[in-house]
Amino acid sequence: MSMFAKLALRCAATAPCQQIAQSYACAAIGTFASRSLSTDTSGRLQGKVSIITGGASGIGREAALLFAREGSKIVVADLSEEGAAATAKEVQAMGGSAIAVKVDVAVEAEVAAVVAKAEDEYGAVHVMFNNAGIMMSSDDDAVNTSEEVIDKTLAVNVKGVLNGCKYSIPAMRRAGGGSIVNTASFVSFMGAATPQVAYTASKGAVLALTRELAVVHARENIRVNNLCPGPLRTELLMKFLDTEEKKHRRLVHVPMGRFGEAAEMAKGALFLASDDSSYMTGNNLLLDGGITAAYVTPE
Ligand SMILES: NC(=O)c1ccc[n+]([C@@H]2O[C@H](COP(=O)([O-])OP(=O)(O)OC[C@H]3O[C@@H](n4cnc5c(N)ncnc54)[C@H](O)[C@@H]3O)[C@@H](O)[C@H]2O)c1
Repeated sequence: MSMFAKLALRCAATAPCQQIAQSYACAAIGTFASRSLSTDTSGRLQGKVSIITGGASGIGREAALLFAREGSKIVVADLSEEGAAATAKEVQAMGGSAIAVKVDVAVEAEVAAVVAKAEDEYGAVHVMFNNAGIMMSSDDDAVNTSEEVIDKTLAVNVKGVLNGCKYSIPAMRRAGGGSIVNTASFVSFMGAATPQVAYTASKGAVLALTRELAVVHARENIRVNNLCPGPLRTELLMKFLDTEEKKHRRLVHVPMGRFGEAAEMAKGALFLASDDSSYMTGNNLLLDGGITAAYVTPE
């Protein structure tokens, strides 16, 4: 055991600095178990269990890795069984603990099974990151969007989030509290002349349902907030923006002049998931490169 770990453990015996010292001691001891897990951990989610939907890719994958570095056990839940398993493997490779579960968030019974699996495996659920979402290529304006696209988009993006809340809230009650983070979007606040009206409607609905659940559960030590990403350089958006012209059409509206990164969103999700945001509920964290603040952007 390093000198630093011994000192920290001694300090942990005295009440005032117990919590801080213990987390530093854990970090120091951790260097023996896994260097990559311990070097930059500050234990914001130490001892917690987090379910992350859409954990196979983009924001969800980055959040799984970051939450694990901060001490959380991770349940990676995704429609892609292979992708979920790959993320869980990455977490394990850096010394963390993770399981992968296949789920379609639009199917209530499957979401119930994910929460049950998390409690069976890890004993509790403290964080539910309802992050899985879709944007369909034939999503268009009100006149041209098919019923099929509307139904599917709302089923995944709205019912999927609601399902996650429905089954994680009782689990959080059993755990003594928790934090729900729902992924909405900057399009919850803005209209675009490149319409995807089913997607936009779905992300507006996420804002409203989060607000209401936050108020209902505020006195049960359960917080509910929205992560609202701007346009990102992830699979979901980049598969549409396959030419420089299409990218430019969007970037001209982003004051920072670039797309966001999934890793930048994961940091916001960590803030909302952890006690760093302990006095925040029913609210929205916009990480959008300034797009919702802009009228005329820099040349
Ligand atoms: N990329 C952006 O520009 C952007 C902007 C704002 C909001 N968002 C939102 O962020 C969230 C994550 O997006 P991303 O950019 O990381 O996308 P992504 O496509 O990289 O990842 C989405 C993940 O969700 C999974 N998924 C899709 N349908 C599912 C279902 N029915 N059940 C379970 N899992 C399912 C996919 O398999 C994938 O792994 C989404 O809710 C998206 O709407 C993205």
